[in-house]
Amino acid sequence: MMFIQILFLLFLSDEAYSEKMLCSYQDVLNYLNLTRNNELYTMTRPVKNYRHPTDVSLEVLLYAILDVVEKDQKFIPYVWTVTKWQNEYISWNPNQFCGIDNVSLPTEMLWKPDLTIEEMTERDRAPPSPYITINYKGDVEVQNDQVLVSTCRMHIYQFPFDIQRCNLTFKSAVHTIKDLRLHPSDNSSEATEWSRDLMRTQYEWLFINMTINSINASDSFGQDFVVYTITMKRKPILYIVNFLLPVLFFLCLDLSSFLISDSGGEKLSFKVTVLLAITVLQLILNEILPSSSNRIPLIGKSS
Ligand SMILES: *[C@@H]1O[C@H](CO)[C@@H](O)[C@H](O)[C@H]1NC(C)=O
Ligand SMILES: *[C@@H]1O[C@H](CO)[C@@H](O)[C@H](O)[C@H]1NC(C)=O
Ligand SMILES: *[C@@H]1O[C@H](CO)[C@@H](O)[C@H](O)[C@H]1NC(C)=O
Ligand SMILES: *[C@@H]1O[C@H](CO)[C@@H](O)[C@H](O)[C@H]1NC(C)=O
Ligand SMILES: *[C@@H]1O[C@H](CO)[C@@H](O)[C@H](O)[C@H]1NC(C)=O
Ligand SMILES: *[C@@H]1O[C@H](CO)[C@@H](O)[C@H](O)[C@H]1NC(C)=O
Repeated sequence: MMFIQILFLLFLSDEAYSEKMLCSYQDVLNYLNLTRNNELYTMTRPVKNYRHPTDVSLEVLLYAILDVVEKDQKFIPYVWTVTKWQNEYISWNPNQFCGIDNVSLPTEMLWKPDLTIEEMTERDRAPPSPYITINYKGDVEVQNDQVLVSTCRMHIYQFPFDIQRCNLTFKSAVHTIKDLRLHPSDNSSEATEWSRDLMRTQYEWLFINMTINSINASDSFGQDFVVYTITMKRKPILYIVNFLLPVLFFLCLDLSSFLISDSGGEKLSFKVTVLLAITVLQLILNEILPSSSNRIPLIGKSS
């Protein structure tokens, strides 16, 4: 009987102990003193010695090719970016907090690297991700989906059998390499493979691959760049049916006019009719063909 009472008491005290355990996310934040107006976390780059640059790793995957406008030299992809860096003020022992090893916070609570994309011409319309994730070792991670409206020099000479390459250049807006080092977290083959798996819609394009070039600054006043080059190929079938086939058909008609005898005005009126048809086709074509001041597509010249 005595023994059972002791056991019961032990059980009670154990209960009391676990109530005192720190098991909520807020306990972690209290421990870190991570409050909305704590300047330690928001104002400056989170290093204990300013000479120590912050290492930022970047992952970019392509979700979709939403639009390619040759006329405006505009490329609109939908990309997923993951940015990671270290915050030296954050660390806790998960064992003290019931094993909590990561916490999500509103993004404005922490310092973030100021990454920009050089080719971007319009601000992102999709709302930015509201949360940032920190873990007990001090790693901070932001994931974001972005519709990027970017400029891209298109080469339309081989239209509709063209291949386009568009760059997305990531760099810090103001920080030099003394403050911030930027590097990609995966290599070209991984990024290509994962983007292929993720790809939702490709418009009239076929995604071929994504090449990652990491360009280190040449001197201490420079900046690191990461260049993602997206290579894609046009699916020409639409243009073959709508445009190449009719042109070939008219060509055959034109050639067949040689078979008509010269006598009478028949040949002339036939030729005029074909010419008229081609002119109308050309008017329609003007709408379809990508136009660009520097070079006319080969196909537009030949018709
Ligand atoms: C927590 O942060 C507040 C506001 O920045 C500050 O006044 C307070 O002294 C800090 N507390 C501890 C224990 O560091
Ligand atoms: C955060 O913690 C949960 C639970 O321990 C785990 O399932 C999840 O993978 C962690 N997330 C990250 C980004 O580490
Ligand atoms: C894209 O980036 C690659 C590699 O950095 C560079 O060689 C190429 O000239 C760039 N293309 C354009 C159109 O800027
Ligand atoms: C890319 O990374 C993967 C895994 O880390 C590795 O197996 C592969 O060989 C790498 N590819 C290149 C081209 O470096
Ligand atoms: C991507 O595709 C282009 C064109 O097919 C090719 O020249 C380039 O080497 C490829 N890059 C990679 C990393 O496979
Ligand atoms: C850039 O610098 C990093 C170290 O900061 C190094 O690991 C990487 O190989 C360098 N890349 C190039 C292309 O020099």
